[in-house]
Amino acid sequence: MCGITGFTGYTLALPILMQGLEKLEYRGYDSAGVTLADDIGLVTLKAKGRLSELRSILDESELLQMTGIGHTRWATHGVPNNLNAHPHTNKRNTISLVHNGIIENYMSLKQMLENFDYDFKSETDSEVIVHLIDFYYRQCLDMETAFKKAVGDLEGSYGICVVSRHSPNKIFVARKESPMILGIGKEGSFCASDVPALLEYTRQLISLNDGDTAILEPDKITVFDAEGKEKPIEWMDSPYDMQSAQKGGYDTFMEKEIHEQPQTIKETLRGRLSGRKIVLPELDDIRDNLKNINSVIWIACGTAYHACVYGQMILNKHVPINSIAVPASEFRYGNYHVDRNTLCIFVSQSGETADTLAAIKMAKERGALTIAVANVLGSSLTRLADTTIYTCAGLEIAVASTKAYTAQLVLLYMLASKLSEIMGYSISEHQEIITNLRQLSNMTQQFLECCKPVVKEYAQMMKDERDVYFIGRQLDYVSAMEGALKLKEISYIHADAYYAGELKHGPIALIQYQKIVVAFATQPEVSAKTISNIKETVARGARVILITDKDTKADGFSYIIRLPQIHPELSCITSAIVFQLLAYYAAVERGCDVDKPRNLAKSVTVE
Ligand code: M6R
Repeated sequence: MCGITGFTGYTLALPILMQGLEKLEYRGYDSAGVTLADDIGLVTLKAKGRLSELRSILDESELLQMTGIGHTRWATHGVPNNLNAHPHTNKRNTISLVHNGIIENYMSLKQMLENFDYDFKSETDSEVIVHLIDFYYRQCLDMETAFKKAVGDLEGSYGICVVSRHSPNKIFVARKESPMILGIGKEGSFCASDVPALLEYTRQLISLNDGDTAILEPDKITVFDAEGKEKPIEWMDSPYDMQSAQKGGYDTFMEKEIHEQPQTIKETLRGRLSGRKIVLPELDDIRDNLKNINSVIWIACGTAYHACVYGQMILNKHVPINSIAVPASEFRYGNYHVDRNTLCIFVSQSGETADTLAAIKMAKERGALTIAVANVLGSSLTRLADTTIYTCAGLEIAVASTKAYTAQLVLLYMLASKLSEIMGYSISEHQEIITNLRQLSNMTQQFLECCKPVVKEYAQMMKDERDVYFIGRQLDYVSAMEGALKLKEISYIHADAYYAGELKHGPIALIQYQKIVVAFATQPEVSAKTISNIKETVARGARVILITDKDTKADGFSYIIRLPQIHPELSCITSAIVFQLLAYYAAVERGCDVDKPRNLAKSVTVE
């Protein structure tokens, strides 16, 4: 979603703000702006569109201030234009603000301020905050007090940075349910909505807690709790380095991240296999509670939701317990039975997805036991869950999730398997699967390299299609769903997933001569049936790209990819390599901006 950068220090602020915004471009945006501050006043410049538009109106030789804030906006309240773009300033141009999140009570605050003759220039909810700070400043003539009072009036979610002519070398920061990272380095103090914006300058970071505020000065950062009391800062050394925020020789982040999967799978497994056992010490503290669980709900959004469907299916294969996967955006409004005997598992790459956060809060209110499966250390989700198990996929920058997805599958396999063990059920063929998990990193490395040429050829065939159909049964349906999502989000080819057995109940009406069907058949108990479903589409002239295992009998298919030998419960992981590359090459062929697909944001922090 929107990106925030802020800097106050001993060197020019503008280059630092702009490079930070560039590093956050992957989060998606449609306008951008900066405010630079000194004791002479504030200079604010904004532009609709890409950062290049903003750059074209910046005169770097004039903008020599050492304090400033920057923002990339993804429109929620109000269309993308210069007025709605951040930063927002007060009438006297003495205070300027950038904001991520949604202010839920902005209408009532706006009405109150209008009664005091405040004018509003934009359609955003954010603008209300800057006028509110101004309102309090006029009463107390102290920026710190005015800022804290204004923040105290806000309902909703926010990551806020404010600069002011009244305190020209300070940045006032607040956070609630919207990420905010602070850092300190030799050039000064920094803040940003995500780590990549800061890595070039410092790895000494903290993630501000919900409800906290902070004041940044060139030589120090002071953090306050919700009551306004100063808190000690525990700096952490960022686990990421500059290299992880660069493309490293690949054309795009997505291509790089697809190729990182052998490594990220290895990292996710590291220390979690011991002899013939899966080891998840993160479950130790809740082990006793797990024994009382009588239903499991897997909750997430988008790609992470598909990983949840996988987790749910694996658990259901081995444990006769109620287990369902629900999109987080639906969970809150469906009347699901949740109580203290329910285990809710929340999966999220970013750990900041608004729907997933809202869902975990609701589950906790009802007394559920909660586990987070997240990729970002210290993210909001991990602070809410009873325990967190981390995927170790590293920084994922491309909007389309790839390496985080396969890391989630690996981890959810282990989690489902461990839950079965704790609940007193054994996993059939467990040893074979453990052996396969140990081989998985090398297997994906070899397969990735050898399947690329053929996948590229099939993507070429797909590039001018309007619609593509993905089909599969059982675990292969997970691959169909995620394959269709990958293709549509980055190539804009319409793609949908169907259960192969459901084709004849409707979707087959869409199959005409030369239509493309991507079919997965890796599950021995249903592969033969899937093949006959596929033949029904071939009979109607479809071109079928079949992704199957070594053993399935599949004669007469012109476009076929055989996966390496792996237990069927893990084949979703190798299938992912194929459909990720297929989507990637198709998008490249169509000239799409693969890393920044239109209308999408890397982490969706609004509901
Ligand atoms: O950060 P999260 O895993 O919670 O994000 C969930 C979805 O927004 C995300 O997976 C989205 O669907 C991706 N664009 C898929 O590639």
